[in-house]
Amino acid sequence: MRYLGAAQVARLVDVPPQARPYYRALADAVRARILDGRIPVRVRMPAERHLAETLDVSRTTVTAAYDLLRERGYLESRQGSGSWTALPDPASTPDNPWLSTGADGLTHLHSAAPPAPSALLEAMAEAVEDVPRYGMGNGYDPMGLPVLRERIAARYCARGLATRPEQIIVTTGSQHAIQIVMGLLLGPGDPLLVESPTYPHAIDAARVRGARIVPVGISHEGWQPDLVTCAMRQSAARVAYLMPDFQNPTGALMDDATRAALTGAARRHDTTLVVDETWAELALDEVPPTSPMAAFDTDSRVISIGSASKLWWGGLRIGWVRTTAALARRLALHRACVDIASPVLEQLVVARLFDRMEETTAERRRTLRASREALVSAVREHLPGWDFTVPRGGGTLWVRLDSGSAVSLAEAVARHGVRLAPGPWFGVEGTLEGYLRLPYTQPPQVLRDAVAQIAKAREHGARDGEHGMYARGGEHGLPGGYGPAGRTVPVEPVIPVV
Ligand SMILES: Cc1ncc(COP(=O)(O)O)c(C=O)c1O
Repeated sequence: MRYLGAAQVARLVDVPPQARPYYRALADAVRARILDGRIPVRVRMPAERHLAETLDVSRTTVTAAYDLLRERGYLESRQGSGSWTALPDPASTPDNPWLSTGADGLTHLHSAAPPAPSALLEAMAEAVEDVPRYGMGNGYDPMGLPVLRERIAARYCARGLATRPEQIIVTTGSQHAIQIVMGLLLGPGDPLLVESPTYPHAIDAARVRGARIVPVGISHEGWQPDLVTCAMRQSAARVAYLMPDFQNPTGALMDDATRAALTGAARRHDTTLVVDETWAELALDEVPPTSPMAAFDTDSRVISIGSASKLWWGGLRIGWVRTTAALARRLALHRACVDIASPVLEQLVVARLFDRMEETTAERRRTLRASREALVSAVREHLPGWDFTVPRGGGTLWVRLDSGSAVSLAEAVARHGVRLAPGPWFGVEGTLEGYLRLPYTQPPQVLRDAVAQIAKAREHGARDGEHGMYARGGEHGLPGGYGPAGRTVPVEPVIPVV
């Protein structure tokens, strides 16, 4: 997209005519749309005169809004060629919150990534001892170290899915796995079926390939097999990306009957199923037993993706793919242009962690349960109008707001020291505005405090009117007592690690 017309911008920003001051409300709305991706960066905005006519306001109002956006770095103007959307230069922000996550002093409730397990250091120390055995080699193994592939295969066998190490390729995180699998399977214009809501970085990976994204709605209760099958047939989806195990963000768990039905449908419609099992090992309650989706596969059309990130730690950047031995080798060739191979030390650490599966899983479940309980009771206490189903596993609560826009709320709450992941991050075409994902991967007290801050931000928003809420914090400071230790909290676009 190269430019936006006045009518398109008016539709996207939807500023109530009574908003005061209107120019600020307009600027805030444009900024929010840039941040949630609905107004792309580097597109030309309509001429001030045209937008003023369409919105039925004076030209000076639109000029003031554009000036404000320019001042804040969201608009650049070039002599004679109009105004273009932009993002502020991070280097120009002295207290840049997104160069290093956590250093911004904000609570990162937009990311569902648990901290490292207590066994990590021990596993690392043991892995260091293992290194000399590998040091004589060249250090590049595009398929992954045999010692780790064996453990991953053994884990699939323990979950009831016969697997040989040759069927495994180790990747640099499951995001990398998604990227190389989609890179191999999808080309420009190919339809990709995704759940809505879904995991946003998977959509990103497909978009890079030029794939056409076809969403199919799911809820807390999960998948309606007839709907998914129908979408598969009507879109002639070449690939479907599914998360049957504690789906991110809804936390839904697919039952075996649905797994069998969807695998059968994929067979009939010649669709490859890319099944992301990143959260699969993290059941928190008693759940009916399920088998990995690939256990229902009879003709090698299910490709399973796994990760060490949720069970152990995202900082290890280790994931994997389970598929046929032939496709695993093709993926190894395909990754040559991305990273060639995954780091040896981290693979050795994950191999050691697999040896502590029982103890580390128990610890992770214990902490996630405690955090889930704290989050659920804090939301029920402070935000009783919010609606959700408590997930039986995984790490995220998918919440329906009682009113208002999640993007606006996230903007306002960031000024109170908490970053949120609004629903549209998980949707395909800017949908899911009334939803929010709240992860429970942080300690209980952090979650309780964060929910209290969300409630406070909502209270201020309700008192000041939605647009007034943006105006009061401004870019340059917060009224006393907001944010960590009363610090100024600049709200810059975050790189969404979700
Ligand atoms: C469903 C899902 N897939 C993939 C990833 C990426 O994880 P990683 O690349 O750290 O393995 C995540 C991380 O949040 C996720 O939730």
